[in-house]
Amino acid sequence: MVAGRFSVALLIGPPGAGKGTQARYVGEALGIRHVASGDLLREHRQRDTPIGLTARAYMDQGDLVPDELVVQMVIERLARPDAARGVVLDGFPRTVCQARALDVALAERGGRVTAALFLDVPTDVLVERLSGRRVCIGCHSTFHVVLQQLPFDSTCPHCGDRLVQRADDVPSVVTRRVAVYQQQTAPVLDHYRVRGVLRRADASSSVELTRARVLEQLGLRESPELCSEPTERNPGHCVSR
Ligand code: AP5
Repeated sequence: MVAGRFSVALLIGPPGAGKGTQARYVGEALGIRHVASGDLLREHRQRDTPIGLTARAYMDQGDLVPDELVVQMVIERLARPDAARGVVLDGFPRTVCQARALDVALAERGGRVTAALFLDVPTDVLVERLSGRRVCIGCHSTFHVVLQQLPFDSTCPHCGDRLVQRADDVPSVVTRRVAVYQQQTAPVLDHYRVRGVLRRADASSSVELTRARVLEQLGLRESPELCSEPTERNPGHCVSR
């Protein structure tokens, strides 16, 4: 996949699949912005906007925010100058209704979804990942308290801002989010399958190996054969071709 005039790549997967983690790499590889609907909603909540005030109750229970609010928010984001060449979308679309609205909005500006990548992870891995997740309130970078060595003072290794645990990462809400994904978001895969743009990457391995699979599926450089699972002596880095 090559970044064209207006190219949109999607990362689809259950909560904790690694969409945010991998979307950053894809955005860097393509030289386009990473836009996450969850981050946009959390920004609205912080600013107490009408969207944020409505979204709060849905998010805290692990339910989806109503389509019309999310579609309007994401389409407006795509109209900003830094999205002029396209974006990597993470967490949107999450319903077939959202997928159809995205198709229409992109067609109006001569664009389309060029790749929808499904990050496939077994359910039992998700809770473990989400319970250890910490997120930077400044740059939104994501970390894991067990898998990564983080500063003792809980500051972000990237920007120095504060790392926090998301309120919806408690086990009861995670379980609800996974169920909602299976009911409402899994059907979105068929929407892209019939359009011939759906790809799949096994995302149950290390971040590095998953990154290699993701980039390979999108036609971007790294190959999983050039990577290894991390061990104490080998941190599992990939070799670029
Ligand atoms: P959102 O913020 O989108 O949450 P999500 O989809 O539930 O996904 P997550 O952010 O939890 O997980 P991720 O797949 O990005 O994983 P990550 O890379 O962080 O949405 C939150 C809420 O907002 C929703 O519940 C809903 O209410 C609302 N919302 C958002 N979009 C909406 C929409 N379109 N329509 C309606 N409502 C919407 O990784 C997770 C952890 O695992 C991290 O700690 C990471 O370091 C670690 N990790 C990542 N990859 C690996 C790996 N390969 N191996 C080991 N650890 C890993």
